[in-house]
Amino acid sequence: MQASGQTIAQDLLAWYDASARALPWRAPPGTDPATLGPDWPYRVWLSEVMLQQTTVAAVAPYFLRFTERWPTVAALAAADEAEVMSAWAGLGYYSRARKLIACARTVVALGGFPDSEAGLRDLPGVGAYTAAAVAAIGFGRATVPVDANIERVVARLFAIRQPLPGAKASIRAAAERIAPTERAGDFAQAMMDLGATICTTRTPRCLLCPLREACLGYASGAPEALPLKAAKKAKPLRRGRAYWIVRGDDVWLVRRPPKGMLGGMRALPDDGWNARGDGNGGPGDILGVVRHGFTHFDLELEVVVSKVATGEGEWWAQSQLDSAGLPTLFAKAARLALGP
Ligand code: ADE
Repeated sequence: MQASGQTIAQDLLAWYDASARALPWRAPPGTDPATLGPDWPYRVWLSEVMLQQTTVAAVAPYFLRFTERWPTVAALAAADEAEVMSAWAGLGYYSRARKLIACARTVVALGGFPDSEAGLRDLPGVGAYTAAAVAAIGFGRATVPVDANIERVVARLFAIRQPLPGAKASIRAAAERIAPTERAGDFAQAMMDLGATICTTRTPRCLLCPLREACLGYASGAPEALPLKAAKKAKPLRRGRAYWIVRGDDVWLVRRPPKGMLGGMRALPDDGWNARGDGNGGPGDILGVVRHGFTHFDLELEVVVSKVATGEGEWWAQSQLDSAGLPTLFAKAARLALGP
């Protein structure tokens, strides 16, 4: 018979006590979040927003820079928006950075982070996952933030064969059945660590797994086949052009309009490509092509030399482009134009 939810949680927490990854936004296992001071929920919220769609390794240096520059939610609420966007450059999904500031301002107006999942859910830009993560890790509330790692662990543990995304509700229900009432934050992060280090996508290391005996996926002989996923639609390919406009040692940079793709970010001027269509392919000599994957489409961006500085922008020293806060797409285009 499969082990009880309580045994599963106990085994997992014992493993976490011994093997938790030390990450800059984490407290040691077993720490009561109530003892971590007034800025703790801010650090949890910031890290969880950064970690959506982005790896732990990529987030760590950004988290350290952000918390050094804006150590409290009040500091972030008072920050200059363009400065925050530049500091975010390279992390991707830039609407997260715009919502970050809006959320920080709301939290300050409220006098602090709400301490319940429902209250957190009402904050701008905070979805079901982030609300549950901050409630559990920031405040010790008994809830489970189900991310892709936890989905994988739970689908295997209970051999849930319904494909994702349809299986989300049953996976969540199963996760809640095994969640402990104490140490909710540790439990969530233990599940994340198990998913990231042992119950990995392709070749899970079942022999090292603290939940192996309870795992129906392991018993089935092919845990790596789970979770099943409904066939994905192929992403469309869009084409666009970015202009490399040089004057002496400088290059022309623009600020993108606040709404829309990469809104509010500094960028090379371009020919108007977007998620729905190609750009208008304006004139210029082609220096090369960069490819970039967005969530809903791939982009092939030709980098072309142009002479006319269009739109509102500024001349920026080519040697200082690293400090322009260009999003990855335009950083790739600039690297191509600058050459080896
Ligand atoms: N992914 C999302 N949140 C995380 C966390 N708190 N620790 C590790 N990985 C995560």
